[in-house]
Amino acid sequence: MIDAGPASGRFITFEGIDGSGKSTQAKRLADSLRDAGHDVVLTREPGGSTGAEEIRNLVLTGDPGRWSAMTELLLFTAARRDHLEKTIQPARDAGQIVICDRFADSTRAYQGAARGDLREVVDQLHALTIGVEPDLTFVIDMDPATALARGLARTGAEQRFEDMGLSLQQRVRAVFLELASDHPDRCILIDGNRDADTVAADIAQRL
Ligand code: ADP
Ligand code: TYD
Repeated sequence: MIDAGPASGRFITFEGIDGSGKSTQAKRLADSLRDAGHDVVLTREPGGSTGAEEIRNLVLTGDPGRWSAMTELLLFTAARRDHLEKTIQPARDAGQIVICDRFADSTRAYQGAARGDLREVVDQLHALTIGVEPDLTFVIDMDPATALARGLARTGAEQRFEDMGLSLQQRVRAVFLELASDHPDRCILIDGNRDADTVAADIAQRL
C-alpha cells in the first residue's frame, strides 16, 4: 500500500524509450494508489481526450516518413493542449492524482533532439501553449535493443516510431538521461532492466 500523503492534485508522468515499461508501471502505480484510497486518473499521450486520441491515430500510424519532425511537433502539441484542457487540468482542479504515460519530455526528446534539432522551438511552443510541468517524472531507463524488441513484439498499427529503428531509440535514451540529470528536482531515474515487480516496488518506494 502506498501512502501518497500530500499527493492530491499532483501530476506524475512516466517517460522513457518505446517498450521500456511505462504503461505497465503507470498502471501499477495507479492501482496501488487507488488501493490506498486515492482518486487517480490514469491517462496517456498522445491521447487522453477524444480529440487527442484522434490525433494519436494520425501520428502513430503509417509510413515513418509520413510527417516531418516539425509537423509532428505541432500535432503532438495540439493533442497535448486538448488533453490538458479536457482531462488533466479538470482532474487536478478536482484534487485527483493524474498519472500520465508520456508528456512534454517526450516531445523534448523525440522532436526536440532525436528526430530533429528543434529543441528551441519545442521549448517556445511549450511555454506559449502548455506551460505546465509535472510535479514528478519517473524516467525509466533501459537497454534500447531489449526495449525495441518488446515494443515490436506488440501487434497493432501503432508502430510508426518503432519502425524508425534502433538508432532513434538510442538517441532518445541519451536525451532522457540528460533531461533526468538536468531536472533532478522533478525527475527520478528508474532502472527498467529488471522484472516488472521489482521495478514497481522501486517506484512505490521512491514515491
Ligand atoms: P511502454 O509503455 O514503455 O512502451 P509497456 O509497459 O507497454 O512499455 O511494455 C512493453 C512490453 O514489455 C509489454 O508487452 C509488457 O508486458 C512488457 N514488459 C513491461 N515491463 C516489463 C519488464 N520489467 N520485464 C519484461 N517485460 C516487460
Ligand atoms: P506510446 O504509445 O507511449 O509508445 P510506446 O508504448 O511504444 O512507448 O507513444 C507513441 C510514440 O509517440 C512513441 O514512439 C513516442 C512518440 N512521441 C513523440 O515522438 N513525441 C511526443 O510528444 C509523444 C507524447 C510521443
